[in-house]
Amino acid sequence: MKNRLIVALDTDDDEKIGWLSSRLRDTVGWFKMGFQAFSALGMEAFPRFEQNGHKVFVDLKFHDIPNTVARDVGMMTKHGAHMINMHASGGFEMMQAARKSAEDATAENGIPMPMLLGVTVLTSIDETGFQRSFGSERGLTKQVVYLAQLAQEAGLSGVVASPLEIEPIRKACGDDFVIVTPGIRPKWSKSGDQRRITTPAAAIQRSADYIVVGRPIIEAADPVEATEMILEEMKGA
Ligand code: C5P
Repeated sequence: MKNRLIVALDTDDDEKIGWLSSRLRDTVGWFKMGFQAFSALGMEAFPRFEQNGHKVFVDLKFHDIPNTVARDVGMMTKHGAHMINMHASGGFEMMQAARKSAEDATAENGIPMPMLLGVTVLTSIDETGFQRSFGSERGLTKQVVYLAQLAQEAGLSGVVASPLEIEPIRKACGDDFVIVTPGIRPKWSKSGDQRRITTPAAAIQRSADYIVVGRPIIEAADPVEATEMILEEMKGA
């Protein structure tokens, strides 16, 4: 299960990140770098994480014109990111350009292709918030599925979505399409700003390929113990 757990390093405290990486050495398969960790450590951290047994998910949620996103994704690929995301709402052409750029970078550098993911609708947004922010007639779940299909057509490996939308995405996009789910809260943790949430066990039972957990681990009094409890729960699912 360790290769299906992604720990979100939502901090710019490089000492804490270094401590987490060594304490969770070989316990956790993935570390996710958002803007905070990325601005503190940069791409130079990728090989250091790898040495500790963590693959790197670059969660910078790119959303820009195709040329810019293609360059961003190409650069992350070249430096060895294993998973990279972008907002699917950035559009079909943007995602296609990102895919091509990652392919070019892997061919030029003889490195493996990273997983490219489209972010659908953020897990902090519920139906009411969705109507207010997007004014869309389609409804939240349909919008998630629409964006997942768009990402798949554009050649991305998968999507980031809530565990509550796994089933309709699987129906529309099939079993090989990667689904990464944040919005994970063990029963013993606080939900914070997340809205569309489930427990680690429920996400695995619903067939999430990867789960992302941030605050329940990195803000725990004992992050190692919290990680072990989550891994146990995943195994039991
Ligand atoms: O602390 P928590 O477990 O809520 O962290 C979830 C992580 O997943 C955060 O780093 C957040 O940026 C990220 N994320 C998310 N919803 C998405 C995409 C990414 O919560 N749709």
